[in-house]
Amino acid sequence: MSGLQAIRYNRGKLEVLDQLRLPHEHSYELIRTSEEAFDCIKSMRVRGAPAIAIVAALAHGVELYQNACEAPTAQGTISYIDSRLDYLKQSRPTAVDLTNAITHLKAVVRTVDIASLDESDSSAQAAAKSAIINAYLEAAEEIFRKDTETNLRIGEHGSRWLLANAPVKSPEGKVSVLTHCNTGSLATSGHGTALGIIRSLHSAGNLHHAFCTETRPYNQGSRLTAFELVYERIPATLITDSMAGALFATRKAEKHIAAVIVGADRVVRNGDTANKVGTYALAVLARYHGIKFIVAAPTTSIDLQTTTGADIKIEERKREELTQISGAVVGADGKVDVSRTVRVATAHQEIDVWNPAFDVTPADLIDAIVTEQGVVEKGESGSFDFRGVMPERW
Ligand code: MRU
Repeated sequence: MSGLQAIRYNRGKLEVLDQLRLPHEHSYELIRTSEEAFDCIKSMRVRGAPAIAIVAALAHGVELYQNACEAPTAQGTISYIDSRLDYLKQSRPTAVDLTNAITHLKAVVRTVDIASLDESDSSAQAAAKSAIINAYLEAAEEIFRKDTETNLRIGEHGSRWLLANAPVKSPEGKVSVLTHCNTGSLATSGHGTALGIIRSLHSAGNLHHAFCTETRPYNQGSRLTAFELVYERIPATLITDSMAGALFATRKAEKHIAAVIVGADRVVRNGDTANKVGTYALAVLARYHGIKFIVAAPTTSIDLQTTTGADIKIEERKREELTQISGAVVGADGKVDVSRTVRVATAHQEIDVWNPAFDVTPADLIDAIVTEQGVVEKGESGSFDFRGVMPERW
């Protein structure tokens, strides 16, 4: 298991690793309120669908633990929790984990029976208020705790499926894969989803080589995934997004790719999947080259309310993410000075910019969706059926 931790938490104290400073600086930020969590998520100091949901859920928990709720009644407490969660939900729109976590937390606080309470009985109201807060805290902490377990199971299911279905293997029976964006320990509470499968392949001795894309425009691949791969000494190579076609066309040694493995921000009812922009292009390329295309997604990333990918709201981000870039200074001796970071312009600052953070890969291009409950493949009808992995939500 990786020692990298994007989120550090003990009841009443939440710290988040500032991912905008990686890989040069490893610093944690204290999150005390929903406003601080909102800003941290929106500015992408924490990012990745599961991590966003965990930070939002825990941040509101910290606030509740610090007595931020002034409502004296049980109903007032529930209304307060609802309004803070509704506010947090606006921080980033595409990843559904946050919405699913919020729906769950709202349901949990409603399991405390307040129907028979006397409104004027202040001690009964206070006791119910603390039961509601306690139920919230336990549920939010469980989301955090369960996430790593979920990812370890995705790692097992995904590596088993790939080893059984790989179109090509090394002479020793190992596979080479490519991943996009960052889906590792930094995007989750630990291990990761798509990168979790790569970790599991590696730890079982089944990984020949991993490739990661730079993932323009925000470079989650080069800044974060490359960092995780080097940190754990997993055999890996960084490419720019535009090199994927050239890589897939190469049929020798470690460059003979068996699968593209990506994460998901939202998988909808028919299997269409929103993920980091560039995923769709990789899926088209993979299909042309006979390479498997695998989506690794916890069931908390599945949205059965939305029928097809056309209905997914895609977040558009600010122009500066394309026209400027941050990095550490490289000295005349070629050494990186991690204490000096700079922001530089990489394009004419007046050029019009379109910056969608995600794109949608049609289910047709996806071979397998790996969840913690097992692998979902397309049935005879050519569409995905998630009933077996999440029956309670059908
Ligand atoms: O914009 P980001 O960095 O939050 O986008 C992250 C991704 O697209 C990931 O692939 C996805 O959230 C899954 S993380 C396990």
